[in-house]
Order: sequence, then structure tokens, then C-alpha cells
Amino acid sequence: MSILVTGGAGYIGSHTCVELLNAGYDIIVLDNFCNSNKEVLKRIKTITNKDFGFYEADVRDKKALDEIFAKEKIEAVIHFAALKAVGESCQKPLEYYENNVSGTVTLCEAMRDAGCKKIVFSSSATVYGMDNKVPFKEDMPVGGTTNPYGTTKYFIERILADVQAADSEWSVTLLRYFNPIGAHSSGMIGENPNGIPNNLMPYVAQVAVGRLECLNVFGDDYDTPDGTGVRDYIHVVDLAIGHVLAVEKALKETGVNVYNLGTGIGYSVLDLVKAFEKASGVKINYKIAPRRDGDIAVCYADASKAKNELGWTAKKNLDDMCADTWRWQRNNPNGY
Ligand code: NAD
Ligand code: UD1
Repeated sequence: MSILVTGGAGYIGSHTCVELLNAGYDIIVLDNFCNSNKEVLKRIKTITNKDFGFYEADVRDKKALDEIFAKEKIEAVIHFAALKAVGESCQKPLEYYENNVSGTVTLCEAMRDAGCKKIVFSSSATVYGMDNKVPFKEDMPVGGTTNPYGTTKYFIERILADVQAADSEWSVTLLRYFNPIGAHSSGMIGENPNGIPNNLMPYVAQVAVGRLECLNVFGDDYDTPDGTGVRDYIHVVDLAIGHVLAVEKALKETGVNVYNLGTGIGYSVLDLVKAFEKASGVKINYKIAPRRDGDIAVCYADASKAKNELGWTAKKNLDDMCADTWRWQRNNPNGY
């Protein structure tokens, strides 16, 4: 029996494939490479010294999915495949709803038709919106998202909960990630954004390696210790291990389970810049710029539910996250 990993060639998916293989699972990767590179698959094999099945396919393609489910013995699906650029989602909302929401509906139809009813879904802390107080807890109200990308995550959470409510054989796990950063300690796989990065860590890493000139720090007048935005950065390998534990539980149980995957610790933009300078020995050129629309001042998790129910806690600290990002970026200055 295998775990199907949609979007398994992407940033978080590739690290999760490594941890699933290391934990002894058989996996099958499905990706359409709209935001990833085939080289990733080779590197996963090199890191783990294990082989796995792979399909170049789109989660919106029901026929392709039906064929995969007919051919393979798939016990559960970890569903990463999605578009994820917040700014782009405001320009292209239909593409985002189509890819993320329709893609998930089609995937669930294929799963239902094949009798595979266990799904672990990549959600985001963005579903907590602007109005909750930190630390964010799973039972807080969700919605109030500020962009179409975030709204796709909120809608998909609802859709999956409805699917489970209608058929109690389903197991639905919603993992709300905080801010994944870092890379595998081998330096062979990591985050490889297209074009100019939107997120802080890849931007900082590209300044360090000389691809970008200067970091814009979006606002220094927030109500935080140094005035810059505070986030719960989580090492991507810790996040990947969270998926292994979540799928292990999903294989044994039915129902809907929601977990925050974060460290519970908030660091500011300038904390991260300092930690990166320490890890890399490179001075990061930055300037203070206006706030970015849609940003909140502070976001961090209460991660106690994942600890109590999955036995999961983040083990790596900010220095590890910076050192591993730097190793990946230095070894692969232009990505894959
Ligand atoms: P990524 O873009 O690196 O990975 C997504 C993968 O899915 C890519 O390989 C892409 O080619 C593939 N894909 C996209 N649409 C597809 C489709 N229709 N059919 C088949 N494959 C498709 O992104 P990531 O950072 O690894 O994120 C993985 C998941 O986690 C996404 O659902 C994302 O929204 C979610 N998430 C990411 C973050 C983050 O900060 N990276 C935070 C919260 C949630
Ligand atoms: C962003 C997305 C969120 C998504 C998350 C993970 C927005 C508004 N939110 O969250 O929906 O779930 O990524 O993918 O885009 N910063 C700078 N300069 C930069 C980039 C970022 O100062 O060039 C600051 C931001 O203002 C923020 C912090 O760094 O305070 C982290 O930003 P980022 O990495 O983009 O993540 P989020 O904003 O938390």
C-alpha cells in the first residue's frame, strides 16, 4: 500500500517525501511541475537511496487520477498541489479557485470512486484571518481571509469537512502551517521560488548570495518589540515529520482533525535577518519600507494540540533554519 503525494515535487512536498521514505512508507508522487522541477525527484532518491512511483499529471484531470487509483494501491493522500502566491491570487482569482478548489474537489471525487477516503491537506495559518488573538488555536473562528489564495484554503477546509460529515468513513486532516522555511540538511533540496521571492526567507537568502541587492522590511511601526512583523517560522523538515505522524494517525482513524504546525515562538523580521547574518557570515543589506497590504503584526501558533494528539513538536530552532537555508542557497545559487 502506498501514500499518494500530490505536489510532491514542490518545496514542502519534496521534504515530506524524504521523511515518508525514511519512515518506511511506499510513496507515489503526482505533480504537473507548474511550480517545480523534475530534478527534485532525482535528489529525493539520492538523499534516501530509495525509489518511488511518479506520475506527471494534474489533480484537475479526473481521467488521469482514475487511472492512477486503478493501477496503484493507494491507502491515503497527502495533498500539497496548489498555487500559493498571495499577490498573484489577487490578479488571477479564477485560476486560484480553479486550481486549488476545483483541483481538490476532483481529487476527492477520484478518491471516493476508488474507495480511498483518507486525506491530509495543506492548509495555512492564513485561515485565522486578521481578528483572532495570538497564539492561534485550532478552535478559533476561521475565515476573514484577505486574499483569494487564503480563501481557497478556507473553502477547501469547509469542503473537506462537509465530505467527512456526509460519509463517516472519511478521515480528513487539516494541517495549518505557520511559516515554513529552511531546507534539508544535505543542502540538496530547498525552496526554489520562481522570479523575485514574495516571502521573507527566500528573499533574505537571495540577498545573501548576491542575486538581490537589498531587502525591503515591510514596516517598522507595528506593535511588536522592534516594530517589525512577528511570525512563527518552522523548519520544513519538522513540518514534513508532522505529515508523517498525521498520516500515521489518519491510517488508523476516521473523522476530521485540525492541527497547527508551528513552533509557538514568534520572531521579528529583524530577528531573522540577524540570525541569517550569524549563520552565513554575510551582511544583509536592508531598508525600511512601507507596510505590505494584508499583513498582520503578529502571528504564532499554539501547537499544543499537535503535541498532545500527534506526539509532534518542532525540534529545530531559528539558527538551524538559517544554517540549512544558507547551505541550500550557497550550493544552489540559481535553484535547481
Ligand atoms: P510549491 O509550489 O513548492 O509546491 C506545490 C506543488 O504542486 C508544485 O510542485 C506544483 O508544481 C504542484 N502543483 C500545483 N498545481 C498542481 C496541479 N493542479 N496538479 C498537479 N500538481 C500541481 O509549494 P509549497 O510551498 O511546497 O506548498 C505546498 C502546499 O502547502 C500548498 O498547498 C501551499 O498552499 C501550502 N502552504 C504553503 C506554505 C508556504 O509557506 N510554503 C504555507 C502554508 C501552506
Ligand atoms: C505569507 C502570506 C500567507 C502565506 C504565508 C506562507 C501574505 C500577505 N501572506 O505570510 O498568506 O500563508 O506567506 O506562504 O503574503 N517581509 C518583509 N520583506 C519581504 C517579505 C516579507 O519585511 O520582502 C515581512 C512581512 O511583512 C512579514 C514577514 O516578513 O512580517 C513574513 O512574511 P512572509 O514570509 O511573506 O510570510 P507571511 O506574511 O507571514
